[in-house]
Amino acid sequence: MSFAYPGTERLVLEDVSLDLPAGAVVAIVGENGAGKSTLVKLLCKLYVPTSGTILVDGVDLARLPSDGWRARLAGAFQDFFRFELSARQSVGLGDVPRVDDVPAVRTAVDRAGATDVVERLAAGLDTQLGPAWPDGVEVSFGQWQKLALARGFMRDEPLLLVLDEPTAALDPQTEHALFQRYGAALRDGGAGANGRISVLVSHRFSTVRMADRIVVLDGARVAESGSHDELMAAGGTYAELYRIQAAAYR
Ligand SMILES: Nc1ncnc2c1ncn2[C@@H]1O[C@H](COP(=O)(O)OP(=O)(O)O)[C@@H](O)[C@H]1O
Ligand SMILES: [Mg+2]
Repeated sequence: MSFAYPGTERLVLEDVSLDLPAGAVVAIVGENGAGKSTLVKLLCKLYVPTSGTILVDGVDLARLPSDGWRARLAGAFQDFFRFELSARQSVGLGDVPRVDDVPAVRTAVDRAGATDVVERLAAGLDTQLGPAWPDGVEVSFGQWQKLALARGFMRDEPLLLVLDEPTAALDPQTEHALFQRYGAALRDGGAGANGRISVLVSHRFSTVRMADRIVVLDGARVAESGSHDELMAAGGTYAELYRIQAAAYR
């Protein structure tokens, strides 16, 4: 599968072939501009490949109805939007039919580890976000990001969950704890048995290493892929980057 953005010539992804097994947690790593976010957007069918196909259970994603596919997606993009609504609705929009479902919103907030953000709001979930509105409050970038993450966790049983650097504003320990909890819930809770695929983009190798499969993108191509142990044993790019980062945290 290859892809160039509409109206451009340059292939942002070139001959990318990936197998995302049902139930797997897949991490994508690579330098800025390597095409990680683009790959995530293609999986969500926000774009279709310029050549080649993405197969979902053997069916060409380009031929699946977009609405039906998107209804099964959840997650958070890197370039998230600040919805200046009540905190409840700003999170609840992650599953439009349940936008005002307070218990569902609370569950999502909890999944995202965003309870502290909501607790600090004067009127809790009823707080209006955005200082331009009557009684509206400003929240920090990190707080917006946590609310966006909560929005991404609204759906209970997505087929595909994508998390594209949704926690860049969080400290590494918080991100690590979040994905540990999330990964464990997927594997033990039977959620994985539904075949949910989770795709996670992060710069933090301490987080990435828990994935079942790690895909290293380099200059629009897949440089290597495998489990943490496999890639460490292979001694390639991943192993080198991992060692550099591990040394920096010591
Ligand atoms: N909407 C767009 N139109 C044209 N080029 C884009 C667009 N979005 C991203 N790109 C280009 O595609 C390449 C890959 O970007 P991206 O997928 O965002 O990389 P990453 O997430 O790995 O940092 C970059 O060269 C970027 O400039
Ligand atoms: Mg990106």
